[in-house]
Amino acid sequence: MDNHGAIADGRLVDRFGRPHTHVRVSVTDRCNLRCFYCMPAGGVVFRPHESILSFEEIARFVQVVAGMGIRKVRLTGGEPLVRKGVDSLVRMLARIPGIEDLALTTNGILLPEQAEGLKKAGLKRLNISLDTLDRERFRQITRRDGLDQVLAGIAAALEVGFEQIKLNAIAVRNLSEPDIVPLAKFARARGLELRFIEFMPLGGDGTWEHGRVLGAAEILEILAGAFGPVEPIPARDSTAAAACYRFLHVGGPPVGIIASVTEPFCTSCGRLRLTSEGLVKNCLFSAEEHNAKAILRGGGSDEQLAALVVAAVRGKKKQHGTDDGAFAISPRAMNQIGG
Ligand code: GTP
Ligand code: 5AD
Ligand code: SF4
Repeated sequence: MDNHGAIADGRLVDRFGRPHTHVRVSVTDRCNLRCFYCMPAGGVVFRPHESILSFEEIARFVQVVAGMGIRKVRLTGGEPLVRKGVDSLVRMLARIPGIEDLALTTNGILLPEQAEGLKKAGLKRLNISLDTLDRERFRQITRRDGLDQVLAGIAAALEVGFEQIKLNAIAVRNLSEPDIVPLAKFARARGLELRFIEFMPLGGDGTWEHGRVLGAAEILEILAGAFGPVEPIPARDSTAAAACYRFLHVGGPPVGIIASVTEPFCTSCGRLRLTSEGLVKNCLFSAEEHNAKAILRGGGSDEQLAALVVAAVRGKKKQHGTDDGAFAISPRAMNQIGG
């Protein structure tokens, strides 16, 4: 590969030698919750339906990138399950040659009615957000009710036989500490992998500051206090965001930490993003956007789409949107990018 980053041996590789094998596709910016770390409390303007890519447009994009070495697709939002008929998109993507892993990240609210249809459509894996088991704190975090629905959603996902379900909990200082051990017990009782995600500066209510990040080291200390020592284990996937740990004394499923702030994993990042409006982004924190929708809707060719993806990968910076490693504040909120 040359050091400009492009396609080498049929793989997408960036200027820093990182192979890109994974695309996160946001299917909507809408959501049925209003988590403070993701969206402002009010005045959120959602994109009109016509500006959002159709399922056919998304499938065409995925088909093109599958031909460039993308193997893993994750559907995100906003909340992906509020978009009508997401199971039919899953069915379309599951048929695309080269796509080996098809996953979805959800807040779980609509899983009771949709888990079965998603499984039947060919969805392989589900990650479900669960920040607390406390009803009052759930309301404080999401600005809505819904804990019972999320718990029913997790039960439904288990019931219909999803084999790999992960739970995602955001970790915020002076908020999440009392939830860590109860969430770990909940996950362990169901054999589920739980990941804690450090609070990142992405939109939300604008209250992010370094002091509100509950870091990986502290989370591990709280876990060790309750369950005994933990030990790092190698990740199943070398491009995974989460560092995994096992409990040395009590066994059970591993616990993961997504330490985007205290230990950024940018050196192993192999992700691209497609926003619901059809913009390709090479990093969660990048202001750079490549307009795939213009090609999809303007009668452009697959070759043009592929060239746009190569340009996006070529433009990827070494770390968090800046080459000097500074932590950039994203210009877009998380619900617009898709986590
Ligand atoms: P698997 O490892 O495939 O199970 O999924 P994942 O962890 O990549 O997906 P998920 O949607 O569950 O992501 C969990 C959280 O990781 C997201 O909500 C983000 O907070 C964070 N995350 C995902 N991708 C990135 C990324 O590229 N950069 C950073 N800094 N954080 C990310
Ligand atoms: N920092 C970290 N994670 C976030 N998410 C949303 N906003 C943030 C943020 N500011 C995560 C949620 C969920 C996924 C959809 O995105 O916890 O797991
Ligand atoms: Fe909705 Fe997820 Fe954002 Fe919460 S984190 S408001 S559930 S998109």
